[in-house]
Amino acid sequence: MQITILSGNPKQDGLCQAVIGAVRAGAEAGGAAVAEIRLQDLPLIRCQVCADGWGTCLSERRCQYGSDGLDALTEQLAAADVLVLATPVYWGEMSESLKSCLDRLRRCQRGQDGVLAGKQALIVATPGGTGNGQLTCFEQMDRFCRHTGLVIFDYIGANRWTADYHLNMARSAGLALAQGRKNGDTVPL
Ligand SMILES: Cc1cc2nc3c(=O)[nH]c(=O)nc-3n(C[C@H](O)[C@H](O)[C@H](O)COP(=O)(O)O)c2cc1C
Repeated sequence: MQITILSGNPKQDGLCQAVIGAVRAGAEAGGAAVAEIRLQDLPLIRCQVCADGWGTCLSERRCQYGSDGLDALTEQLAAADVLVLATPVYWGEMSESLKSCLDRLRRCQRGQDGVLAGKQALIVATPGGTGNGQLTCFEQMDRFCRHTGLVIFDYIGANRWTADYHLNMARSAGLALAQGRKNGDTVPL
């Protein structure tokens, strides 16, 4: 089981990274191989919005600028069994690094024929300031999943005053995913 975390977190510590670490710990405890891709470390450009709105993303389902790292990233994501999309909440949305990456991925991997379709996806969004904007961030990430056929397994949103129990939940979610649990399964109560 390969679980790949696509992270839009620029920081190495703090709330968002603690939740990512908890998911990772749970997944590793469940025997999964875990990779964490930090978008902050990649030189990805934003979507160039080619021509009149579409470029080779429409005709060939690939970005003509994919050699900047998007092609390699797409291969890594395609090889994963489960994806974790993780971000701090900025302005009630995903971080800019995650948003601009997902914008390009969505164009190329849209629909049920894309390489992401059918994979379980865990969504992590941490509003660490006021705590506001979690729902709108989830909604934005949810829309990406639905456009690309990712199957949303769960949403984890921790803030400064709920982090303790959400960290437990994050670890449990990582463990459950590593053990092969899927959206639609029924767990014994
Ligand atoms: C540009 C920017 C915008 C932010 N917008 C929000 C926001 O809308 N709501 C919120 O609760 N926190 C907001 N924050 C705080 C981050 O969510 C917080 O730093 C992060 O999620 C969790 O804390 P961490 O930095 O320790 O990981 C913002 C932070 C930055 C840098």
